[in-house]
Amino acid sequence: MKFFLDTANIKDIKSWVDTGLIDGVTTNPTLISKEKGDPKKTIKEICKLVKNGDVSVEVTEKDPKKVYAQAKKITKIAKNVVVKIPCHPDYFSVIKKLVKEGVRLNITLVFSLAQGLAMCKLGVEYISPFIGRLDDIGSDGMQLVADLRQMIDEYGFVKTEIIAASIRGVQHLQESILLGADIATVPAAILHKAMLHPLTDNGMKKFLDDWKKVGRKTFP
Ligand code: G3P
Repeated sequence: MKFFLDTANIKDIKSWVDTGLIDGVTTNPTLISKEKGDPKKTIKEICKLVKNGDVSVEVTEKDPKKVYAQAKKITKIAKNVVVKIPCHPDYFSVIKKLVKEGVRLNITLVFSLAQGLAMCKLGVEYISPFIGRLDDIGSDGMQLVADLRQMIDEYGFVKTEIIAASIRGVQHLQESILLGADIATVPAAILHKAMLHPLTDNGMKKFLDDWKKVGRKTFP
């Protein structure tokens, strides 16, 4: 199970990369719009920071021909870039062509089992079901992750990994782990929260308080 950071914020990426727990980063136009500066420079810096992991960068064009050309350009930013393309029929032949050309793709905005299966058939590297956005409309985002896992295992689509995306809370992350998502892409604040537990804090305090009772200034 891999953790990706779902952000374009350099500060957050730097501090998590230092922990050794981050296997990649996912960005999208919304996340990039929250950061200052030239997006290309930002992406380059992220790719350098996460040198052993994949960095997803989304296309911003609409016309399929332009999406194809832009995808090719995005791949040139760095070796560890993965191109993100929305799961829409307008782009299916572009996706097929790019996969044939060896371009690594993360298909984003996946909201159904049929969409996921179609993308596996095209041989993409990653599919990103958006859990939170399904929950937003009263649907069950976690169920889609479970269904995609079952479909990939049953039909043997070994090339495609599931990125649990649009994670809105610790519960989404925990369930993604249990349901067998290959990757969870998580906002930095949620990942931080997931690593905290009040009993860890209480236990640390008690150990330190008890240690004071030993009365040693130096140890060992
Ligand atoms: O990974 C996709 C994510 O950035 C979208 O999250 O919260 O905007 O649905 P959200």
